[in-house]
Amino acid sequence: MIPTLPLGTDGPKLPVLGLGCMGMSEFYGETDDEQSLAVLRRAHELGVRMFDTADMYGNGHNEELLARFLNDGGAKTFIATKVGIRKASGEYARTIDNSPDYIRQACDASLQRLGVERIDLYYVHRAEAGRPIEETMAALADLVQAGKIARIGFSEVSAETLRRAHAVHPVTAVQSEYSLTTRDMEAEILPTCRELGIAFVAYSPLGRGLLSGTFDLDNLSESDVRRNLPRFTGTTMEENLDRLDTLRTIADQREATPSQVALAWVLAKGVFAIPGTKRLSYLEQNIAAASLRLSADDIARLDRAYAPGSFTGERYTAEGMKGVNV
Ligand SMILES: NC(=O)c1ccc[n+]([C@@H]2O[C@H](COP(=O)([O-])OP(=O)(O)OC[C@H]3O[C@@H](n4cnc5c(N)ncnc54)[C@H](OP(=O)(O)O)[C@@H]3O)[C@@H](O)[C@H]2O)c1
Repeated sequence: MIPTLPLGTDGPKLPVLGLGCMGMSEFYGETDDEQSLAVLRRAHELGVRMFDTADMYGNGHNEELLARFLNDGGAKTFIATKVGIRKASGEYARTIDNSPDYIRQACDASLQRLGVERIDLYYVHRAEAGRPIEETMAALADLVQAGKIARIGFSEVSAETLRRAHAVHPVTAVQSEYSLTTRDMEAEILPTCRELGIAFVAYSPLGRGLLSGTFDLDNLSESDVRRNLPRFTGTTMEENLDRLDTLRTIADQREATPSQVALAWVLAKGVFAIPGTKRLSYLEQNIAAASLRLSADDIARLDRAYAPGSFTGERYTAEGMKGVNV
């Protein structure tokens, strides 16, 4: 059984491990819908309830894939999707749009693709610099009122913007990158979430696979987005892979895999985690991590060995970094 936590002050109790579905449509190489559907079904059988998607993952493909799963026995699920990143042409092919008109239109499109009457959790994928968050929140609050979304969330938002948004309408959850590779959230966002009663959902809790101990850049397809992320390039990548010794040692001592220890560390911080995978074997391994109890000493060793900033290279390109902490 996966332990549960309440999702903020107004949300349901949910299993702490969800499933990140992004890689089933885009960003991490080859995809196979039938294989992904098998992973979704198995996740549900094993007790996963929170399924994480976004309208931009595969330009709607990911939401449509989830709809196939929901139509085929995926009852009692909790669907989280996101709005606010519009794919565009150009070098960094996207723009951030939090305008009320766009949000209303994108919400209707997500509802239609997902084939549901109401979205359980609707995240603003990135806050738009220069647009008052109050304007965006008013539009989202209207969608709650209209019954199209049940709850509002934010991804990669700054603590200041989060406070302003929460003052307009309760925010249920913040989803941002959090793992042994990326601990920036501990400075401001995690304490702010705790103070305001907002749930925190850790995305990329395996450091996009870096913490698995089996990551090999040479095996990535040409289209894999990680090839362009500073943390994964050239000697930086080699240096980062060399940092996994403590993780591997604790994994050996616990008869677990490095991925399981990395996930257990995130869960020990009292947050939700949504590891992503397209494979049944990884899924089962990751869910078993919910039963792995690290000792206080294990956690202290990991905290010390992977202090904030110990992995080299930014987690996004310079353009991508402009969208975080807004
Ligand atoms: N809000 C945002 O801006 C944002 C950004 C990124 C991600 N997310 C969400 O967070 C979810 C998870 O993040 P993520 O997928 O980027 O990163 P992640 O969960 O840290 O890592 C996923 C990668 O690790 C591999 N992997 C998973 N379990 C493994 C295991 N037990 N052993 C070895 N390798 C394993 C996966 O391989 P395979 O693909 O081969 O299975 C994939 O390459 C996404 O699916 C998405 O829903 C949100």
